[in-house]
Amino acid sequence: MGPNAIITSPTFFGLVLAFDDPVRKGPNPNSEIVGWAQRLVVFASLEEISLHMTYDIVFTSGEFNGSTLNLVGRNPLTRDYREFSVVGGPGAFQLARGFVVDRTVFNSTYDAIFEYNVTQIDHASGSTVGPIDNNKE
Ligand SMILES: *[C@@H]1O[C@H](CO)[C@@H](O)[C@H](O)[C@H]1NC(C)=O
Ligand SMILES: *[C@@H]1O[C@H](CO)[C@@H](O)[C@H](O)[C@H]1NC(C)=O
Ligand SMILES: *[C@@H]1O[C@H](CO)[C@@H](O)[C@H](O)[C@H]1NC(C)=O
Repeated sequence: MGPNAIITSPTFFGLVLAFDDPVRKGPNPNSEIVGWAQRLVVFASLEEISLHMTYDIVFTSGEFNGSTLNLVGRNPLTRDYREFSVVGGPGAFQLARGFVVDRTVFNSTYDAIFEYNVTQIDHASGSTVGPIDNNKE
């Protein structure tokens, strides 16, 4: 958020931000980077701090290197339990359908660590796999 941003809403309603943050194997800030969390978010609620997100997790190492997971949905940031959708992705995630459970591990003014458990239908085998990883950013 730039120094000149004018926020009049207590829920930051209308604020649009883009992020590109590391995705790590574990919640430790030194754990291995497996990809990048690239997302466009809009603070979409007048009632609470809640995002609408269009979100790509771009894997750059490990089992899913070269694949991207496409996520979308609502993220009411201050709630303990949050869920949004896996809608697909190129590579290993073609035709993927599933959901992400999101939890805040740590937050401060400028930093936060989120833990994701991803559950998705594996169309190649027809079975349900998940969680595929505990992705942290
Ligand atoms: C990930 O894949 C890219 C493209 O194939 C390759 O250049 C890179 O070395 C791989 N990274 C790892 C850590 O395997
Ligand atoms: C950040 O953490 C504080 C408690 O440490 C919590 O009250 C607040 O809701 C959190 N904010 C967000 C945006 O998760
Ligand atoms: C993810 O699953 C692990 C193992 O079941 C659990 O300890 C953790 O709390 C879960 N995290 C979230 C965000 O659901």
